[in-house]
Amino acid sequence: MNVLVVGSGGREHALCWAIAQSPKCKKLYCAPGNAGTAAVAENVEIDAEDLDALIAFAQDSAIDFVVVGPEGPLVAGLVDRLDKLGIKSFGPTAAGAELEGSKAFTKDLCAKYDIPTADYDRFDEPDAAKEYITTHSTPIVVKADGLAAGKGVIICRNKNEAYAAIDQIMIEEAFGEAGTEVVVEQFLEGEEASFFALVDGETALPLLGAQDHKRAHDGDEGPNTGGMGAYSPAPVIDQAMVDRVMTEIIEPTIKGMAAEGRPFKGVLYAGLMIDDDGPKLIEYNTRFGDPECQVMCMRLKSDLLDLLLACAEGRLAKTKAEWRDEAAMIVVMAAKGYPGKYKKGSEIKGLDAADAVEGAVVFHAGTAEQDGKVLATGGRVLGVTALGKNVKEAQKRAYEAVDKIDWPEGFCRRDIGWRAIDR
Ligand code: AMP
Ligand code: GLY
Repeated sequence: MNVLVVGSGGREHALCWAIAQSPKCKKLYCAPGNAGTAAVAENVEIDAEDLDALIAFAQDSAIDFVVVGPEGPLVAGLVDRLDKLGIKSFGPTAAGAELEGSKAFTKDLCAKYDIPTADYDRFDEPDAAKEYITTHSTPIVVKADGLAAGKGVIICRNKNEAYAAIDQIMIEEAFGEAGTEVVVEQFLEGEEASFFALVDGETALPLLGAQDHKRAHDGDEGPNTGGMGAYSPAPVIDQAMVDRVMTEIIEPTIKGMAAEGRPFKGVLYAGLMIDDDGPKLIEYNTRFGDPECQVMCMRLKSDLLDLLLACAEGRLAKTKAEWRDEAAMIVVMAAKGYPGKYKKGSEIKGLDAADAVEGAVVFHAGTAEQDGKVLATGGRVLGVTALGKNVKEAQKRAYEAVDKIDWPEGFCRRDIGWRAIDR
């Protein structure tokens, strides 16, 4: 079949890398892709947010299956439009993607269907939000309702910080329309982890747990980023915890979404806080995590295209996913300055030597090929990934591969996986 992957990050390189290995995949395209996807797929110069051009390309190129990577086109209704044309796709409709697109919607769903999460209220008016803050304890968390590129969450140590967060989001409109409404919620303590499940509208197939490092610098310090590294398995998500997350969080969500007339299809990415009481939902994303997707693709033994098709066609009840016993780790290499200002256009060398390290695969994110050279074109640029018999060995190999890369304009954290290794 002809397959189109939408997106240009490390996640999409990993998806292309795994889908290209499927005997079912005849022709693979990636829009717009990067220098890494170009090695396993044909890149098509269409922006992931350009729905009209994506639809036209899918029709003109006889695409049988579209796999949507990022949240933007999902929330904008790409899957709805493909459905109308009878083109099969992986990902939720806009009504399903509301789980990521509106934090207030998700919190209300949790309240209605008894899904454990932080106590909260939602506000479309700053004075009412501040009144709530005045009568609740700190720390407290203020969130812009809509999509804010991962930046719309402000953890406030005291009430003054929380009032300021309300002003920043609702009055100064720091996140634009995403901040027309806010959610204010209780601060949760515990260990954070992510959990992924495929959902076909009725049935969920658990994938796996992972942990990522969101802060830019070693010791989990510095500003928040899209993610500087990740590993799987996550020791905090053992089989007993998977069972609890499935029954207490994922399954009630699927039932609730169906009951609300928004049957959910695609991947549910649950951000969790885990403490002695069990798991609580921090938030949902309705796409694979980046960089968690890369470690998942490395650990997957089953044919990814088969799994995504089973999800799109409502066949998950009869589908199993098989995993390698090995652990996987990804270390993200970013342009110096990221997540702030950084330079583009520097050359990256040593990629083949890094790929040659045992168990390692280098996934590209912000890269482009020019005259046979690979250039850095984004903030997060490479995801150096490796398998190993445990997290420690995966870490050793991932950093061995990192050290083969010759890119003075880049940096990475040197402590990815410390929490799992310290245990
Ligand atoms: P989100 O975009 O909702 O995942 O939030 C970004 C990050 O903020 C999360 O990964 C958590 O580390 C943190 N966070 C969000 N909500 C809470 C909460 N209620 N309690 C503690 N930390 C939170
Ligand atoms: N790794 C965090 C995310 O994909 O949102």
